[in-house]
Amino acid sequence: MSGTARPLSPSLDIARRVAELRWRVADWRGQGLRVGLVPTMGALHDGHLSLVRGALGECDRVVASLFVNPTQFGANEDIARYPRDEAADGAKLAAAGAHLLYAPELGDMYAADHATTVAVAGLTDGLCGPFRPGHFAGVATVVTKLLNQATPDRAYFGEKDFQQLQVIRRLARDLDMPVEIVGMPTLREADGLAMSSRNRYLGEAERRVAAGLPRTMAAVLARLAARPLDVAGALDWGSGELARAGFARIDYLTLADPETLQPLDRADRPARLFAAAWVGATRLIDNVALMGGAPGAH
Ligand code: PAJ
Repeated sequence: MSGTARPLSPSLDIARRVAELRWRVADWRGQGLRVGLVPTMGALHDGHLSLVRGALGECDRVVASLFVNPTQFGANEDIARYPRDEAADGAKLAAAGAHLLYAPELGDMYAADHATTVAVAGLTDGLCGPFRPGHFAGVATVVTKLLNQATPDRAYFGEKDFQQLQVIRRLARDLDMPVEIVGMPTLREADGLAMSSRNRYLGEAERRVAAGLPRTMAAVLARLAARPLDVAGALDWGSGELARAGFARIDYLTLADPETLQPLDRADRPARLFAAAWVGATRLIDNVALMGGAPGAH
């Protein structure tokens, strides 16, 4: 493979090797340009593209990475089933105005004797942590690598994956990485369902059930606003609603502190409601703010 980035479209180049990526970013740096990074696993939807647009609004050059990271998939999670369509993703990124697609090969990202893991303690103890052992270590490790490879001024992540966002903020701070981590709001479908690459797994009936997740979460927030001291009652009611709406299993419905992600038993301060629930074989997650519990508000 050549050492220079090859054009995928008139406006979007593709780099497959870290050396190509570094060369491009160094060139931009030399021109005094500000570089933004948007890490993704592909199967791009408008939520991903909103991160690209946000990055374009603040940076001179935007790199989107596309890498389906095996280390963040559990043994019972089928990475082979994860949707892949690089050509369609490239076209969407070009149309959105991204400057470079970084799509490394598996063997280039992880040497056969790769031995280092980045683990963020505490923040990964609750919410999705216990349900997806090893997941956040896989995310933290690959994001650390991507940030070290691209050395962006800013990197953009969605609040859709709020626990992931906070894990990445913490690792960047703890490891003194010279990057600003930017959290972006969740983009939703017309009925409120958070956009997700996994939504394409849903059949028609499942898709209708799925819309019950944001609807129920909004109703739980309304109950909490009316009775802030009865968090347990509101969460019990919400779990029942989700079951009645057709969710097969509810991993959690939790009110938590937006910074520490520790559960709260009173809704009398900034907080966030987090949920993970299964529709058939598809696991959906979502989160919504109560009383300005947004990230970056610190
Ligand atoms: P992926 O699921 O492809 O998501 C890439 C980015 O898009 C993440 O920051 C995610 O939070 C954001 N995103 C997803 N759906 C969104 C929505 N509806 N609105 C706004 N942003 C949304 O998250 C990952 O990939 C991986 O874990 C990764 C960080 C790339 C590491 O492998």
